[in-house]
Amino acid sequence: MKILVTGGAGFIGSHLVEALVEEGHGVRVLDDFSTGRVENLHAVLADVELLEGDCADPERAAAAVRGVEAVFHQAALPSVARSVADPLPTHRAGPTATLTMLVAARDEGVARFVYAGSSSVYGDTPTLPKREDMETHPLSPYAAGKLLGEHYARLFARLYGMETLTLRYFNVFGPRQDGTSPYSGVISRFVEVLLAGGIPVVHGDGRQSRDFTYVANAVAANLLALHAVGLAGQAVNVATGRRVSLLELLETLARLTGRPAAAQQAPPRAGDVRHSRADLGRAREVLGYAPAVDFEEGLRRTVAWLRERRQSSSSGAEEAGESRSCAAD
Ligand SMILES: NC(=O)c1ccc[n+]([C@@H]2O[C@H](COP(=O)([O-])OP(=O)(O)OC[C@H]3O[C@@H](n4cnc5c(N)ncnc54)[C@H](O)[C@@H]3O)[C@@H](O)[C@H]2O)c1
Repeated sequence: MKILVTGGAGFIGSHLVEALVEEGHGVRVLDDFSTGRVENLHAVLADVELLEGDCADPERAAAAVRGVEAVFHQAALPSVARSVADPLPTHRAGPTATLTMLVAARDEGVARFVYAGSSSVYGDTPTLPKREDMETHPLSPYAAGKLLGEHYARLFARLYGMETLTLRYFNVFGPRQDGTSPYSGVISRFVEVLLAGGIPVVHGDGRQSRDFTYVANAVAANLLALHAVGLAGQAVNVATGRRVSLLELLETLARLTGRPAAAQQAPPRAGDVRHSRADLGRAREVLGYAPAVDFEEGLRRTVAWLRERRQSSSSGAEEAGESRSCAAD
């Protein structure tokens, strides 16, 4: 199949592109490189058609969907903190870009559109595990935008008969997630700081918990969505199905990096949710999804990758050394 991956130069997108190439598909990437990097695609660059541009630009979107049979829409500015500080760019790269891509896909007659949603749409509803039929309660402009994107994806199934699906990712982590940015995922940031000999900063009491999901599991859910039938605009959780607190995470990472499990405490951050854990019943039913790589194995692979990258990059030590603090998503 000919497939478009938006945000394909990003963390999750680049893993998905590799898997699609491996399965023999023709892959096009549309990315504006706002957070993505061409190096993320170095292993498959010769096999991929790379388009630079903004998904919110209708002309770029139309060019990107030409001749494709399926779209995996991964592009977004995936940071709660950034969206709280500056909501407009998050909105443009979020729901505006999603609607633009959906319209372009509809006009091109693309049959299938898989949208990268987020567990952040559940917000602080106290009930665990999170089920897709629960009320949503976004706490940040990022989460509100992710939810709006879901509504558009559902509407395009209903109004135009497209096969659309939202995959609600729960805290995805793994190689290529940028740990040097204050906006990046908590696991990469913790590991970067630990490997640099620093002490991670934990916002709040550290007992907040997440259902951390190794990136290969998110990729597997996308691959299943390529062939599943009767998607009908639904949303399904993509996670591990297990809840781990930040303090537990820090202890495990300290063990894996050989560093003390010390933390600097900082005030809680606006827009953060307290606890998160997914129910995976619908993902199993709709996609036949089950997490193949468990949390500890995912952490081992992530630490190994970050350690190797640090060793092979002469500037790595300085970069991470500067960022001695890190916060939890
Ligand atoms: N990483 C997670 O834990 C997580 C959790 C829930 C949802 N998600 C969603 O998964 C998707 C991928 O996230 P990620 O963690 O790989 O982030 P990422 O920042 O590594 O990837 C996003 C990619 O989109 C590109 N991009 C951003 N705005 C764009 C635009 N307007 N036009 C074209 N390209 C654009 C970036 O350059 C980047 O390559 C996002 O939609 C995000 O909201 C991620």
